[in-house]
Amino acid sequence: MQRSLILLKPDCVQRRLIGEILSRFEAKGLQIVGLKMIQVTPELSRQHYAEHVEKPFYQSLEDFITSAPVVAVALEGLEAITVVRDMLGATNGLKAAPGTIRGDFSSSRQMNLVHASDSPESAERELNLYFQPNEFCEYSMNLTPFMR
Ligand code: TYD
Ligand code: MG
Repeated sequence: MQRSLILLKPDCVQRRLIGEILSRFEAKGLQIVGLKMIQVTPELSRQHYAEHVEKPFYQSLEDFITSAPVVAVALEGLEAITVVRDMLGATNGLKAAPGTIRGDFSSSRQMNLVHASDSPESAERELNLYFQPNEFCEYSMNLTPFMR
């Protein structure tokens, strides 16, 4: 089992696509084990995008990610980190394959709707940025009780 940190970015929230995108993760069989809406601050942006802070596109990225609330989601499942990255598609919405989230909903390099951790190390770091240990919920995915 793996956990991954997903952010539904300001464009996702503003375009009223929260439900649509969460539905895809749920339909895939990934389990939501943490969920909150927050306003990203410039400081949190610099921590989250530490690897990009020196890049020429960083200030624009910070302006975007702090422009409206985001929804932080902790998703759990088998090989969840790779599975979610594959569901997102390429970074640039124009290049992302049809059938992927970015391919189906984004035509932008910056406003690409969703962030997802790209490795076990980044997942651990990013989950800790957005969630306290006691904010994760563990519960059974057993559906039998609903079929009685
Ligand atoms: P990156 O980590 O390369 O992409 P991903 O989100 O697929 O892991 O970049 C982080 C975000 O920065 C990306 O989602 C969109 C933005 N970005 C730009 O605005 N311009 C760029 O040239 C790149 C590479 C990224
Ligand atoms: Mg990245």
